[in-house]
Amino acid sequence: MSLITTMTRNWLTRSTKPFLFENKYDDILDYKDCENLGLYVHIPFCKKICEFCPYCKTIYDTKACDEYIDYLLKEIEMVGQMYDNQRQSLSTESLLKISQSCEYDTPHKKTVTSLYFGGGSPALAANRIDEIISKIQEYFIITEGIGVELHPEDLTISTLSKLKNAGVDKISIGIQSFQSHSLSMLGRSSLDINKIKEAINSVEFETVSMDFIFALPNQTIDDLKYNIDTAFTIGANHIAIYPFIDFTFTNKENKIPTMDKKTKRKLLDEVTLYCQSKGYTRDSIWTFSKNHTAKYSSMTRDNFLGFGCSATTLLKNQFKVNTFSVDGYKDRISKNKLPTALTTYFTKRQRMIYYLFWTAYTTRINSDDFNKFFGKSLKKMYGLELFIAKLLGFIIEKDGIYQMTLKGAFYYHYYENYYTLSYIDKMWYILGNESFPEKIVL
Ligand SMILES: C[S@@+](CC[C@H](N)C(=O)[O-])C[C@H]1O[C@@H](n2cnc3c(N)ncnc32)[C@H](O)[C@@H]1O
Ligand code: SF4
Repeated sequence: MSLITTMTRNWLTRSTKPFLFENKYDDILDYKDCENLGLYVHIPFCKKICEFCPYCKTIYDTKACDEYIDYLLKEIEMVGQMYDNQRQSLSTESLLKISQSCEYDTPHKKTVTSLYFGGGSPALAANRIDEIISKIQEYFIITEGIGVELHPEDLTISTLSKLKNAGVDKISIGIQSFQSHSLSMLGRSSLDINKIKEAINSVEFETVSMDFIFALPNQTIDDLKYNIDTAFTIGANHIAIYPFIDFTFTNKENKIPTMDKKTKRKLLDEVTLYCQSKGYTRDSIWTFSKNHTAKYSSMTRDNFLGFGCSATTLLKNQFKVNTFSVDGYKDRISKNKLPTALTTYFTKRQRMIYYLFWTAYTTRINSDDFNKFFGKSLKKMYGLELFIAKLLGFIIEKDGIYQMTLKGAFYYHYYENYYTLSYIDKMWYILGNESFPEKIVL
């Protein structure tokens, strides 16, 4: 890790203590009084593996996928039951406080915002999605909908109907590009746009999002305009445009060159201005929506519980990540143990940095929300940093809301990429090779 990265981390966390991820975990996850809690379920199966992809996945096989889901249901049960057990040990006063903050909570069920299925290609498990959702609903009340990622090849009326009947109201399709030359660079087959249009228009979802990768070699704003226009014309109401990230452990055979910083910035600004000129709302650094009901974000929650291989959990005092190994996962669950590979217990400042980093992803930070979450004033904790960010033109402040400017969004995006390569790349590489590493210091 470079000296600058270490110095920035020390400054922001006001400590020389690194993020220490250790092979240990709490048997009981304390999520009873977490507000704005989201759920994530990871299904690590794909029909074909894309070389550029860093996520935890393995080749699909019906039997392996079915078996995995049996264990997944057990993990949900183990974590879900913790809530009732924790509430029984609380005083009446604490119970009252929780019921005031989470109005829908019942003695046995915890209220959560959303549930997202990611992967891998979770739609390959469409036959059992209803079973997984029912198991989750035994313990949780979902208030803001259920989303599932799909590979374009999963886009059949039959799969979409199964998802819809199971209660899914948001889908996100990994289009990457509608252009064959970009797809072939990514090692993907060309798409039949009419077939995609027909499928998504035959089953109605509240959100139909499409993922695109930008900053591929020689990609121009006209290429991106074509992708954006096609997406919204054929039925999407939300798009995510991710910058291509060259993880060190992916793409070994067929290296895709990365775009230089200046061209990338120009492209990102052009994409943003184009989407805004069309009346689309930027609802996060990389996403744009056609209407305010279209939302797809598995990342912007204050706290979340993750189920399945590689799924992460963020609570008030800790961040934990499950093993990336399907066998390691099944082995732990069969022993009635959580499949956690690594946990970091935060200092207060480290938690604040996590909070600010992920909240900034929405392009705005509300100081009242921060004050409420930490019981401390954002201005008091990070007044100097916010002042510098304002001076540099990264943010503007109005009524306690810090809104990122176009320049700020680019730099956030730039540093997010940098930190992904400094932190996530290292962690995922190790976890991809060892089921339960002893520790990782970042
Ligand atoms: C789990 S996949 C989506 C569902 C499905 N598996 C698919 O690929 O169509 C999540 C998304 O991550 C993005 N992604 C994967 N590898 C990436 C990389 N190296 N850089 C940027 N985005 C990437 C792709 O846009 C992809 O759609
Ligand atoms: S990009 Fe999607 S289909 Fe390709 S390997 Fe990753 S998760 Fe699987």
